[in-house]
Amino acid sequence: MGNLYGVIGDPIAHSLSPLMHNDAFRSLQLDHNYYPFHVTPSHLPDAVKGMKALGVNGFNVTIPHKVTILPLLDKIDSLANAIGAVNTVVRENNELVGYNSDGLGFIRALKEEWKADLENEKVLIIGAGGAAKAIYYSLVYDGVQTIDICNRTPERAVQLVQSCPYPSQSNVLLMEEAEENLGEYTLLIQTTSIGMIPNITDSPISVQNIKPGTHVVDIIYNPFETMILKEAKQKGATTSNGLGMFIYQGAIAFEKWTGQTPNINRMKNIVANHLG
Ligand code: ATR
Repeated sequence: MGNLYGVIGDPIAHSLSPLMHNDAFRSLQLDHNYYPFHVTPSHLPDAVKGMKALGVNGFNVTIPHKVTILPLLDKIDSLANAIGAVNTVVRENNELVGYNSDGLGFIRALKEEWKADLENEKVLIIGAGGAAKAIYYSLVYDGVQTIDICNRTPERAVQLVQSCPYPSQSNVLLMEEAEENLGEYTLLIQTTSIGMIPNITDSPISVQNIKPGTHVVDIIYNPFETMILKEAKQKGATTSNGLGMFIYQGAIAFEKWTGQTPNINRMKNIVANHLG
C-alpha cells in the first residue's frame, strides 16, 4: 500500500495541492494519496499528533498554521527556522521535520522560467508580510545580497531586514520613493495580496518609471495577469505570475517525500486548466 500525504489549513476546500500531487503520484505510478484536511487553530496540536500517530509520511501546511506549527514539530530545517514558517513537513526516521519551500520554489520558478541571473539583478520587493519574508530570506540564503524593500508600513520592512540571520544589504523605501526610483531596478517582486480576485483593478505601486526590459514577478496567480503585470508589460517589462512559485514549492515538497522528480509541465497544466 502507498503512503499517505495531505495539506492542513483553514479554510482548505479550495486548495489545488491535492489535485496537483495526486496527479503527480498517478503519473509516476506511485500508489500514494494526498488529502485536504480542514484543521482549525484550536485543533492544530492534536492534528499534528494525529499525523504522527497515523504514520502520515508528509504534509503541507497553509494559512493559518505556517507559523504556529513550529513548536509542534520534532525538528525544523535552518532556513524554515530563520523564516519562522513551515509549509512542508517530512517524516524522517519517525520524526516530523519542518521545511519551507515557498521562497525556494519562487527562486526555482524564476530560474527556470526567466533564466534569472540573480546575483547581478537589482531587486525590489514590494510588501513585507509572510510571503515577502520567505522570498527575501531565501534569496539572501541563495547568495543574492542586494535587495531593497518597500512596504505600506515601512517599520515592518525594517523589522524583516533586521531579523534576517544571513548577511544582506538592503534599503527600506517608502512607497513613493520606490515609485520614483523604479528605473533603478531590474527585478521587481510583488508579494502583497493587492490585485487578487475580486479586486483585479488594484495595484500596489505605479510602474510609470519602470525601465523597459525589467522583469516583474507577481506571486498572485488568480487572476493570471494582475494589473501591475499588465501595466508593466505596456512599459516594455517582461512578466511572470505566481503559478510557477506554487508549482515549484509543491515540486520541492514532492521530491522530499518521494525522492522522485515530478513532471513540472504536467503539474502546471493541471492547475492552470482547473483555474480556467
Ligand atoms: P502574507 O503572509 O500573505 O504575505 P500579510 O502578512 O498580511 O500576508 O502581508 C500582506 C502584505 O500586503 C503586507 O506587505 C501588507 O502591507 P502592510 O505591512 O503595510 O500591512 C500588504 N498590504 C495588504 N493590504 C494592503 C493595502 N490595502 N495597501 C498596501 N499594502 C497592503
